[in-house]
Amino acid sequence: MSGRSLDGLRVLVTAGPTFEDIDPVRFIGNRSSGKMGFAIAAAAAAPGAATVLVAGPVALDTPPGVERVDVRSAAQMQAVVEAALPADVYIGAAAVADFTPARPATAKIKKRAGGDGLVLELVRTADILAGVAAHARRPRLVVGFAAETGDLEANARDKLARKRLDLIAANLVGVAGSGFGADDNTLHVFSADGARVLGPAPKTELAGALLDIVAERLQRPR
Ligand code: C5P
Repeated sequence: MSGRSLDGLRVLVTAGPTFEDIDPVRFIGNRSSGKMGFAIAAAAAAPGAATVLVAGPVALDTPPGVERVDVRSAAQMQAVVEAALPADVYIGAAAVADFTPARPATAKIKKRAGGDGLVLELVRTADILAGVAAHARRPRLVVGFAAETGDLEANARDKLARKRLDLIAANLVGVAGSGFGADDNTLHVFSADGARVLGPAPKTELAGALLDIVAERLQRPR
């Protein structure tokens, strides 16, 4: 970070995928590695922010100084996030599942039970980010992420408005060298009155640059 620290503030970050159980051995997941959210938590904690990281199932070490809570499903992530409020800043970098099995089976589903196919009924998960932005204890700054395969700005601006965010960091996925699993990325950061491009750069560097924008916004008169 370039000088403007979040020292003394409470920063709540989500990272990684969520796993939605179908039965005791199977689940619906996604390709999120958690690297971006972990890099953000590390960059917030280093200069002195009290940082809570709510992590889905990932294989990453906890950054120094970060309080980490591991969760598995979207419902668990939502409960932990809400219990962790209030915070000054919320950064939703997790790739939260949009749908979860309506009735997870308590025993392993057998092949023969489905005949030639199996129909799984899915229901929508709660939108954690939109919930935080509409919360009675809304953080001063709420930041979302958007992983898009096209129409980056239009989709990101739609989410910014619809979920009532202050900032949204959008990136293209399905493009070589960016997005899920990669160490480098390019972030397009949109606010109601601006747009900035960060990178291409390592996710650790992008995390610092994004937090600089957050710190700058927090200094604006309310
Ligand atoms: O609408 P979409 O899923 O693309 O929005 C992505 C943003 O919303 C991310 O910041 C993600 O963490 C958040 N999100 C959430 N809860 C959901 C779905 C997405 O917090 N159920």
